[in-house]
Amino acid sequence: MMNTNHEEVTQMKQTIRPGATIGLLGGGQLGRMIALAGTNLGYRFVTLEPTLDSPCGQVAEQIQADYSDVQAARELAARADVITYEFENVNAEVASLLEELSYVPQGSQLLYTTQHRLREKRAIEAAGVKVAPYAEIRSEQELQEAVDKLGIPSVLKTVMGGYDGKGQWVIRQASEIPEAYATLSQAGTELVLEQFISFEKEISVIAARSPRGEVITFPPAENMHIDNILHASIVPARISNAVLEEAQQLAGRIAVSMGAVGLLAVELFLTAEGELYVNELAPRPHNSGHYTMEACSTSQFEQHVRAICNLPLSPVKLLTPVVMVNVLGEHLDAVVGHLVEGNWMQDGQDINVIPKVHLYGKEEPSAKRKMGHINLLCDQVEDGLEFIQKTNIWRHQQG
Ligand SMILES: Nc1ncnc2c1ncn2[C@@H]1O[C@H](COP(=O)(O)OP(=O)(O)O)[C@@H](O)[C@H]1O
Ligand SMILES: [Mg+2]
Repeated sequence: MMNTNHEEVTQMKQTIRPGATIGLLGGGQLGRMIALAGTNLGYRFVTLEPTLDSPCGQVAEQIQADYSDVQAARELAARADVITYEFENVNAEVASLLEELSYVPQGSQLLYTTQHRLREKRAIEAAGVKVAPYAEIRSEQELQEAVDKLGIPSVLKTVMGGYDGKGQWVIRQASEIPEAYATLSQAGTELVLEQFISFEKEISVIAARSPRGEVITFPPAENMHIDNILHASIVPARISNAVLEEAQQLAGRIAVSMGAVGLLAVELFLTAEGELYVNELAPRPHNSGHYTMEACSTSQFEQHVRAICNLPLSPVKLLTPVVMVNVLGEHLDAVVGHLVEGNWMQDGQDINVIPKVHLYGKEEPSAKRKMGHINLLCDQVEDGLEFIQKTNIWRHQQG
């Protein structure tokens, strides 16, 4: 997949100067926030996205077509000086076509690896970093044997196409094996069984790497999920300094080992014993990195643009404690109400938090759909968490 002839290698280090056009495969909120950050640096953006008036299309030019539309991909290549993407499930044919016709500094290898859980785990192990013990599953028989070996509970996952907990089955009793296998194998991909890690916390680290080989990592975020969807990210994560440093180091190590360019988000499990296991990777901005928009000297989106354009990466300093909370469809009306009226708290309570609201411009606020997020800037993360508790917006989710 990776072309290694000399011309290609030189081209890989190309610097893209402000004024150039960045092509974005995908026009959702990640594309929108990449475009907003890159626009500040003087770049232009064009997105390829099927949704009319998409989040990114509202702030950039848009080619409205399917991601797998080869003709549209050709047009994107023709209009852009450099191409990046906001999701990892890019059609392989389109990825190699774009690489051939245009400049894709992230390369297709990074996509090829991270869109497939088994390939991804092997790449993490090759960097000398731990993942949960796992087994490749090609039949119900193999699943049976793997469950015997890895124990119960364990997690069966499709190797491709899963997100927000979709394409997964937590096997809690051996009797579930036939149904779990039958259900997940319908997706038509291989499966992987992972040992269940009884983690104490889930954290994530975003690393950025540029073609010139600079690597910078962002402070780890402590992540809370509800119904398998990220609910909140807490920074600084409430973990020891040793774990904090190890998490950043291993994220950098994986990015270097994979030769990644752009952002690489690393999701980790932290056990009570202080051990870290990588859960999965994403070669793009990550929801758990949205806190960087106001809380860091450089946001993940700006760093991504710098990296793909081969500009020097910008130092990352955490400017303030922060809690990022997601705004899903069911929260949107209340959030807009508070944004417009200004009174976030019931009965005039005073919590020392500055809410920075980001809305993605999506039209249909269906339940569970990510419509925006709020960065709660605070002096201590407990205040941010208290803010979430005390506005009524998320209360029903917290039991
Ligand atoms: N091996 C595991 N052990 C314990 N929990 C897991 C395991 N794998 C996944 N989970 C839980 O399920 C969530 C979603 O899994 P993940 O592999 O990150 O898929 P997705 O692509 O949906 O984000 C994780 O954030 C974690 O809470
Ligand atoms: Mg995940």
